[in-house]
Amino acid sequence: MRHFFHFYLGYTMAGLRWNRLILTVSLVGLAACGGGEKAPPSSSNAAPAAAGSDLTPFQLENGIGPITESIALGPIDKEEAEEGQKVFEAKCSACHKLGERYVGPPLGGILDQITPAFAMNMMLNPQEMYSRHPVVKKLLGEYMTQMPNQGLTQEEAREVVEYLRTTPAPAPAQ
Ligand code: HEC
Repeated sequence: MRHFFHFYLGYTMAGLRWNRLILTVSLVGLAACGGGEKAPPSSSNAAPAAAGSDLTPFQLENGIGPITESIALGPIDKEEAEEGQKVFEAKCSACHKLGERYVGPPLGGILDQITPAFAMNMMLNPQEMYSRHPVVKKLLGEYMTQMPNQGLTQEEAREVVEYLRTTPAPAPAQ
């Protein structure tokens, strides 16, 4: 257990901001062993990541679904973002607003919270995400609606990521 605690602590120290995920996993790590002295293990994608979880560290960080490698982001591609906005308005805006809670959580600035691959797996494979991923399971408990599979292609999902990158985070006080 302690290996994985330090593994995720490593992410924190790397300055990444997958806050909720780190919190969840860190708490599991703390509860299980209260911390430890061991050095972080090499980041293998094969080992289960936490007690009571059958997910790999990769899946915890990037979600479960067709996207099995991290998505590298370059400078924002405006055309791709515009295409993504069209997809978002047609297939997401019935449930998601950018700046406030709606049927689902607000998605403005969400890429500060989740990885692009996580967002894409959520779009492409929501059912498995809310059934198996601890962070999304918790969201389902909070929002009480199962996000449906909207039949996006991987390309469309990638465009939506590009669009979401251009959106501001919700104001803190709502
Ligand atoms: C019918 C309503 C509905 C539609 C349509 C929908 N979602 Fe969701 N979405 C939800 C709900 C509810 C959740 C919270 C998890 C759950 O309950 O399944 C969620 C969760 C998410 C999350 C995870 C957010 C986080 O904080 O980790 C992302 C990302 C997301 N949706 C993106 C999208 C995108 C992009 C689309 C359009 C392609 C979309 N959703 C369409 C309802 C919806």
